[in-house]
Amino acid sequence: MLDRLVQLRQQLQLAGHHYHVLDDPLMPDAEYDRLFRELQALEAAHPGLITPDSPTQRVGAAPMAAFTQVRHRVPMLSIHTETDISEQGAVQFDARVRKQLQLNDTDPPVNYVAELKFDGLAISLIYRHRLLVQACTRGDGETSEDVTHNIRTIGQIPLCLPDSAPAELEVRGEVYMRRDDFESLNERQRKCIAEGLKHEKTFVNPRNAAAGAVRQLDPKIAAQRPLSFYAYALHFHPDAAHTLSPVEATLNGLQAFGSHQQVLTALKDWGFPVSEHSRQVNGASGLITFHQEIAALRDSLPFDIDGVVYKVSDIGLQARMGMVSREPRWAVAHKYPAQEELTTVLGIEVQVGRTGKLTPVAKLAPVFVGGVTVTNATLHNEDEARRKDVRVADTVIVRRAGDVIPEVVSVMLEKRMQDARIFTMPALCPVCGSLAVREDGEADYRCTGGLFCSAQRKQAILHFAHKRAVDIADLGEKLVDQLVDAGLVNTLSDLYKLGFSQLSSLERMAEKSANNLLASLQRSKLTTLPRFIFGLGIRHVGEATAKDMARHFGSMDAVMDASMEQLLTVNDVGPVVAQSLRTFFDQSHNREVVEQLRACGVNWEESAPGARLDLPLAGHTYVITGTLPTLSRDQAQAMLEEAGAKVAGSVSKKTTGVIAGESAGSKLEKAISLGIPVLDEAALMALVKSP
Ligand code: IVH
Repeated sequence: MLDRLVQLRQQLQLAGHHYHVLDDPLMPDAEYDRLFRELQALEAAHPGLITPDSPTQRVGAAPMAAFTQVRHRVPMLSIHTETDISEQGAVQFDARVRKQLQLNDTDPPVNYVAELKFDGLAISLIYRHRLLVQACTRGDGETSEDVTHNIRTIGQIPLCLPDSAPAELEVRGEVYMRRDDFESLNERQRKCIAEGLKHEKTFVNPRNAAAGAVRQLDPKIAAQRPLSFYAYALHFHPDAAHTLSPVEATLNGLQAFGSHQQVLTALKDWGFPVSEHSRQVNGASGLITFHQEIAALRDSLPFDIDGVVYKVSDIGLQARMGMVSREPRWAVAHKYPAQEELTTVLGIEVQVGRTGKLTPVAKLAPVFVGGVTVTNATLHNEDEARRKDVRVADTVIVRRAGDVIPEVVSVMLEKRMQDARIFTMPALCPVCGSLAVREDGEADYRCTGGLFCSAQRKQAILHFAHKRAVDIADLGEKLVDQLVDAGLVNTLSDLYKLGFSQLSSLERMAEKSANNLLASLQRSKLTTLPRFIFGLGIRHVGEATAKDMARHFGSMDAVMDASMEQLLTVNDVGPVVAQSLRTFFDQSHNREVVEQLRACGVNWEESAPGARLDLPLAGHTYVITGTLPTLSRDQAQAMLEEAGAKVAGSVSKKTTGVIAGESAGSKLEKAISLGIPVLDEAALMALVKSP
């Protein structure tokens, strides 16, 4: 037991140093938290073994020697993390608050302010005579580092305050990096590294990048790192700090504001950025609603959060509640499931996609991350796999955020086995044995086998059957595997030649499912031209391009026969797309596929070319973002398209307007910055109705 205690302390000590001082974390937060809790539990069981230097006995890490050290006038407290990450955590916090305040069931619900728990780093800003004079990090909560030179480079932080603000104050909040800023920073860093600047490095996550920027010794470099800020606390320095308890010091002068909500309003009035998501809620049910709402919105926020924070709003009640072990009793952090976890690589496989693209995929020991059990993580392509240098048996950090496919963030090199073999892309397609080639300027290897490759054939069939293509409802991945492997389906039209007896001879195929599939196949025969073109799976031809082609040419034959020049006259079709279309239809077997499908009875409505040009929104492009109050995204898109508009996935100078709903994120911001009109659902309705 003692051994484990010592080992945990050493591990946590080292991990803490890497995290706080070197800005280069050794392990995911979830792993750190687990080790920390294990140590806390051991120490709780054996209090006699607690030493003052145990990682459990301090708030952060020692400041880096190169910065001037500062003593906080008001200690920078920590915040208690609710152990139950389910919604019940909110109920438990509320119950503790009520008990401590000796409230009965008949007393009204407690008023809270619920906020986001920003995943950046805490910063204290000191204003004298309404001028920013000092900014420092949290350090160990008592002393910290002076990082004024870097913080001054953050545009969102006011350097001077309006006359309405008190002359002397301290504002605390979080410095963070937006996800898009993080991506472009890493992109820049990668370029620097590629150009031979060896001392540059890429960052693991936005918080790590933000921390690195704030603790830069050279403010010129800090100024190039895009940082943002949210304020969440206000303090007034007591005249005689030493006579006050930490809680008294923390709340000094705030009673005049009455509530934390008022404090936030004041901060906003004085020019500090305050999150629009911070709001007052009542009782446990209010906390739960907030927790649910933010969970649903988490992935669409432009920055990372690791949970939410609940604070008793009334300052008088905060004072009554006080604190335990440097954590106020009136606040709690309620975290969401971690989006990064540790696991081991069981193998690296290469998968073959519809267009022959070879994707290296790490097969993982099952791990619960981002709310689901993950067993595969993409390594994207050869360069990425090489950059991350993932090897079989490695311990890796896996990340899964929202609907994004899980990916390996980095390898824990100190855990690598000595004989771990470097991964290389195979020279031959692992499915059909055809040559795999990587063309100049391309990131991907492709199998050259085309539809000879059964992997490509399977993907091509699944794509054709997709809901948004010809929509063959009962044709799933397992079934396609069986049909292709049994030699029953070699080309798309073979699907329509399947009979009941063939189907029911397949494994696990009951009479009912066979009939269902036959009915779906029958239904799919009546389709539309855009769906059919999309379903062919031509490289670079997505749904939007398929619609453009159908609208422009009106018939399948016209599309197949269009010359490069003609293709290039289609809205939004550039040389890459045009070339891809030409290459596809120049191959006689692709034309045969179309003819065979036609012969099997697949048919689509053809429209006179350009017939839709007279529609009110013809030539206009819209982007839909966020959640609209009543319409689904598909409905909104259909309405716009019916009126002749095009719906695109990203905002550019050419966008006519952006339809924005609740929790719209970076697309909305981009639209605003480009001066593109923003419409809500009501405006959309008016737009499509107007003659
Ligand atoms: S309040 C007394 N509010 O969480 C409570 N902290 O505190 C003082 N954090 O490293 C903190 N979002 O940087 C508070 N809305 C929020 C926060 C927040 C993130 C961070 C803070 C600190 C950690 C624990």
